[in-house]
Amino acid sequence: MSEKEWKRIALVPGTFDPVTLGHLDLIIRASSLFDEVIVAVLENSAKSPWFSAEGRVLMVQRETASLKNVRVVRFSGLLVDLADKEGAEVVVRGVRGGADLEYETVMARMNAHLRPSLDTVFLPASPQLSHIASRLVREIAYLGGSVQGLVSEKVALAVETRAEEKRAENAFSRGGDR
Ligand code: PNS
Repeated sequence: MSEKEWKRIALVPGTFDPVTLGHLDLIIRASSLFDEVIVAVLENSAKSPWFSAEGRVLMVQRETASLKNVRVVRFSGLLVDLADKEGAEVVVRGVRGGADLEYETVMARMNAHLRPSLDTVFLPASPQLSHIASRLVREIAYLGGSVQGLVSEKVALAVETRAEEKRAENAFSRGGDR
């Protein structure tokens, strides 16, 4: 059989603040569906990330190092422009439930409006991971709870360290009243 001349490249974009076991499940599944997967870490998120863009890229790189067809890039600006630059035809997004589906559908249609050649594939979150969200991981860590089973052990350590810094920052900004 002759070797395929083209590669189907998929983007898995996100803020990854931090990368969770839900994200990793999605990336692994995308890597078995597409020839190449580019995990695109959004740089200047309006969400004021806990971790720098460099830190988030490094975390995702470390967590996906064993996946040979996965590459991690950092981006700012429009996702459709990154897709053009990388030659990607597909965006992969995970859907945990109805609220995600509503939000993701609008985003997929907007990206298709901007770039009709770019399609979006939704993968249903694996049921045992569908309660995981980066925002909740940060909140739990900030409030001193365990994030085991939500992120890898290495990411858990980074999140706990950052949570401690955040608590200290907030204590100072409140004048140390708590
Ligand atoms: O992990 P998130 O925060 O849900 O990811 C959101 C992301 C990065 C996929 C989305 O905000 C995005 O694509 N931003 C890039 C800017 C852009 O292209 N905006 C128009 C999308 S409709």
